[in-house]
Amino acid sequence: MSAPFVPIRTERLVLRPYVESDLDALLAYYSRPEVARYLLSRPWTLESGRAVVAERMGGVGLDTPGRALTVVVEHEGQVIGDVGLWASDGTGTKGEIGWVFHPDVEGQGFANEAARAILEVGFGRYGMHRIVAQLDARNTASAALCERLGMHLEARHRQDWWSKGEWTDSLVYAALATDHPRDVGDAIVVSAVVLRDANGSVLTVRKRGTTSFMHPGGKPEAGEAPPQCALREVLEELGLTLEPQLLDLVGVYRTAAANEVGRPLIASVFSHPHLSARSRPDVVPAAEIEEVRWLDPTADLPDDAAPLLRLLVHDMSTGA
Ligand SMILES: CC(C)(COP(=O)(O)OP(=O)(O)OC[C@H]1O[C@@H](n2cnc3c(N)ncnc32)[C@H](O)[C@@H]1OP(=O)(O)O)[C@@H](O)C(=O)NCCC(=O)NCCS
Repeated sequence: MSAPFVPIRTERLVLRPYVESDLDALLAYYSRPEVARYLLSRPWTLESGRAVVAERMGGVGLDTPGRALTVVVEHEGQVIGDVGLWASDGTGTKGEIGWVFHPDVEGQGFANEAARAILEVGFGRYGMHRIVAQLDARNTASAALCERLGMHLEARHRQDWWSKGEWTDSLVYAALATDHPRDVGDAIVVSAVVLRDANGSVLTVRKRGTTSFMHPGGKPEAGEAPPQCALREVLEELGLTLEPQLLDLVGVYRTAAANEVGRPLIASVFSHPHLSARSRPDVVPAAEIEEVRWLDPTADLPDDAAPLLRLLVHDMSTGA
């Protein structure tokens, strides 16, 4: 799990986690019928608003138990709206975004500025692959925002939501990470592969000139997608040819890099059953790999285990 989410600052806005005392500012717009018109929820009451705020206070990161990033948007110290990003699958690579702003601040590009920052976080910080927005087809303001964000209209579903006494059509807009190559800051982007033996031991490797043991894997070459990178790295580092169709996506993890101190790592982690038939089969290191070692994930981890390895073994043992 990465560090708790910290406020994001954009040119004019601060996006920060919810606190209980935001309730009044949120009620000021969520209680209005014209704001709730195209939302699935009814206008907030004090009671319903309190429950939603309590729930959204848990949305402090996609890699936390809440699996959501829900933030209020402040302009000059006032809460003017809110944006949320939720993981919509088990791997955390697909998500959904939503937004609501106070009518008094509409038409100034604030929703655009905040949503853009959250899309950046989804793709850049969490390495997400696809983010969708679903909206009532009559919500032209929201559809216009999706268009301004460069999202693509993918579907119009006919009468698929029951909303405030009627069946309503909905639109699905989507953005892919590859639509607009994003700056991932100083993060190192890699693919890694979990290879286990018949007893569940995990294959780890140490690169030449380094001290940490990690999953096999590495950085993508230009234009290479994460699965292709994973297959190539395992072939180069261990001489193993993995069948692409058996590669499973475990998830995208953000943690500290092992060999480049101080830099974050965004890793697409895959698993593959290639070595699962035998107990600790011999695997010969190649290319930049100096040493191969099997690790029993139920035992205490050695000090030289890389941060990503620690994180995954922890998740496995807690069933996260
Ligand atoms: C959907 C919603 C967030 C859109 O808000 P918005 O203010 O229209 O969206 P933006 O932030 O993109 O602002 C765009 C407008 O600001 C203008 N603008 C002014 N200054 C700008 C700036 N610096 N940058 C960008 N746009 C700017 C744009 O020209 C545009 O004006 P237009 O609508 O006249 O074309 C808002 O209508 C809302 O909260 N609705 C109620 C809740 C809801 O339905 N949520 C969505 C559920 S799916």
